[in-house]
Amino acid sequence: MIKFKPAALFSLLAGVILSLGSLTVVANHDSDESIVERISSVGRICIEGESCKAPVAKVIEVAAGPKTGEEVYASGCAACHDSGAAGAPKFGDVAAWSPRIDKGIEKLFSNAWYGYKSMPAKGMCKRCSEDEIKDAVIHLVDSSK
Ligand code: HEC
Repeated sequence: MIKFKPAALFSLLAGVILSLGSLTVVANHDSDESIVERISSVGRICIEGESCKAPVAKVIEVAAGPKTGEEVYASGCAACHDSGAAGAPKFGDVAAWSPRIDKGIEKLFSNAWYGYKSMPAKGMCKRCSEDEIKDAVIHLVDSSK
């Protein structure tokens, strides 16, 4: 018959607890926050008064493949164009967009792609394709006429 000595039982229990502990650490390492930490870009825009952490859902969205103009807008451009940060013409602001629209859509595409004054190249969406940026410009412009 097998007999457990109290000391042996104790170290067995301690072993179980320790391995549970390391399991928790592994799980934490793969949490959304740590993924975001690892895949987020070096530069990040922080708006005064708001949390500087990138929203988890949005970062994962950007990493997941081709997006519609609306999705690209929501996951990147909105950071400036919703609030008017850095002097960005606001989404839906007809007066602010009208002189820009007069430049012609091709000019707006190229300014969004290469950058223009305080408007960063590709609106800082490094992974975005030319089509995604164009669709985002169309979404922005069509909603601001
Ligand atoms: C870091 C803030 C920021 C982000 C992010 C940003 N923009 Fe802008 N954007 C600006 C600012 C500021 C201007 C105004 C530049 C100026 O005229 O001085 C601007 C202007 C523009 C213009 C007008 C350019 C022109 O020729 O008048 C377009 C089009 C535009 N943005 C598209 C986008 C798109 C599409 C995205 C997302 C992919 C985006 N922006 C993301 C700040 C931003």
